[in-house]
Amino acid sequence: MYFKQRTHTCGELTEEHIGSEVVLNGWVDTRRDLGGVIFIEMRDRYGITQVVFEPHISEQAHHESKVLRSEYVVSIEGVVRKRPEGTENTTLPTGNIDVLVNKVVVLNVAKTTPFPIQDNIDVHEDLRLKYRFLDLRRPKMQNALLLRHKMYQVARKYLDSLNFVEVETPVLMKSTPEGARDFLVPSRMHKGRFYALPQSPQTYKQILMVAGMDRYFQIVKCFRDEDLRADRQPEFTQIDIEMSFIDTEQIYEMVEGLMKDFYKQVWNKDLVTPLPRLTYDDAMETYGSDKPDLRFDLPMTTLNKVFENSTFRVFQDSITKGGIISGMVAPGCGDYTRNQLDNLTDFCKKLGAGGLIWIRAKEEGLESPTMKFLTEDEQKALTAALDAKPGDLLLILTGKKWKTLQLMGMLRQEMARRLNLIKEDSEPKLLWVVDFPLFEWDEDTKRYYAMHHPFTSPRLEDIEYMESDLSRVKARAYDLVLNGSEIAGGSIRIHNSDLQAKMFQALGLTDAEANEKFGFLMNAFQYGAPPHGGIAFGFDRLAMIFAGEHSIRDVIAFPKTASGMSLMDEAPAGVSDDQLKELHIRIRGEQAAK
Ligand code: AMO
Repeated sequence: MYFKQRTHTCGELTEEHIGSEVVLNGWVDTRRDLGGVIFIEMRDRYGITQVVFEPHISEQAHHESKVLRSEYVVSIEGVVRKRPEGTENTTLPTGNIDVLVNKVVVLNVAKTTPFPIQDNIDVHEDLRLKYRFLDLRRPKMQNALLLRHKMYQVARKYLDSLNFVEVETPVLMKSTPEGARDFLVPSRMHKGRFYALPQSPQTYKQILMVAGMDRYFQIVKCFRDEDLRADRQPEFTQIDIEMSFIDTEQIYEMVEGLMKDFYKQVWNKDLVTPLPRLTYDDAMETYGSDKPDLRFDLPMTTLNKVFENSTFRVFQDSITKGGIISGMVAPGCGDYTRNQLDNLTDFCKKLGAGGLIWIRAKEEGLESPTMKFLTEDEQKALTAALDAKPGDLLLILTGKKWKTLQLMGMLRQEMARRLNLIKEDSEPKLLWVVDFPLFEWDEDTKRYYAMHHPFTSPRLEDIEYMESDLSRVKARAYDLVLNGSEIAGGSIRIHNSDLQAKMFQALGLTDAEANEKFGFLMNAFQYGAPPHGGIAFGFDRLAMIFAGEHSIRDVIAFPKTASGMSLMDEAPAGVSDDQLKELHIRIRGEQAAK
């Protein structure tokens, strides 16, 4: 069917166009029939314009407009006019005008949509994902994609201006060491062999430094087969960065510059730099998290000193076993009922705490079933250490150090929620968390793992502990945290083969295993590897926070569900026997899904 190219989008006509003949192409958003005059709101990516069918303007157009329904695709020709007094719509940029139609072409019809194409809808996310093409028509989703687009451009422009080179790295590769499960791709040509999809381009970007690229970046898809959450997807996007001849300070400066641009261009805010830095140990002790949300305070305090001579068995036990006693104040919660306190205790127990010690601060002193175990001096010292005021509630957890701190961190978060301390318009809080431990102890397997990845450099002053006490070795690693979300992480790398060998040894890898896994990288390092380091942004998380959303699915065009399904195209799907045969694969057990 013949239709004219649009002269304007549906978002741009204003009073200055009054009297112009225009062509608009778009979708029918809403349709109203007011006693013979038909009003259509036409929508496209740019906005909404009201168009009007009056019989005396065009009998034919008016007649044809009767078939129009929501989501029909139409092209109209008409004349812009000022809306009659009192009918203006101040919520629309085009709200002072409408278009009197003299010709309409229906470009396509549409079935009734399973949910309305508007921002505030109350439908299950699964339905939105199945009909993602309709979901993405909603202005909110369009804005999310536009914001994401803008953030790509900001990043590219900034990095290009600093001499970073965008290099693509393979998607079919050998397994990477990021610690999650790999997605594997069977090789047709090499029976029994598999490619892995990159968990990140980590090894390639390091090799690019050996190759002399000096400054690399890539906006790149990464794949991790792990349990999904609101801020995790099996495939997600990183802004991946690596630099040669630098130390941590140069990385901080470069990243802070990029964040400044994001703040300015997306939020129109001025980010003050340098950003605050918290060590991992301090972050854990004060906020119970390595990605603390500093939009609210509620700090935790370690109380071991206060109770070092306590005769209360629970505290004694913790102290002698090298554990921790951690407390915090919930301001103004001293009037919590027994029921509310039991509820908090249950919350902690469900997370794995042995129990929760709660204490009400009153004018006359502290009140709690635990008080009978504490001396008067201890009670005073506790009140002072936590700076508790009458009317406050004191909360204490005790046990193994890291576990207790983590639990306390979750309790802190929960109290912030209950006290409604995080407001939609709270100032965003961005910080570095630095000096991470290089190794992480795993209770189940009783061995140390690399907390980041095995190419992360220890702090030079800690190298001496690499053979004696791994728990003391800190890494030259850093995370960037925005509003309690880890939005980027990286490290200075090991570029020296001896130190790398020490690292593999510490991780319990034999030479043969190290060689089999990372031989190609070790090989490259023998040919003049420059000192280097880098970082990767979780781009989806970044876009989510800048868009004010709470799920990364809302800033990804075609995300997967929590169980890794793509509801629109129904991936993962079964494949034919012939395809499996070609790949030398037989499905064991139950019949494969078809
Ligand atoms: P890391 O594993 O910390 O580091 O990842 C970098 C950032 O990517 C984001 N991220 C995710 N986002 C969505 N879904 C996921 N499943 C997911 N997993 C991680 C996080 C995280 O901070 N190669 C190193 C970087 C380096 O050392 O330079 C790496 O990938 O925001």
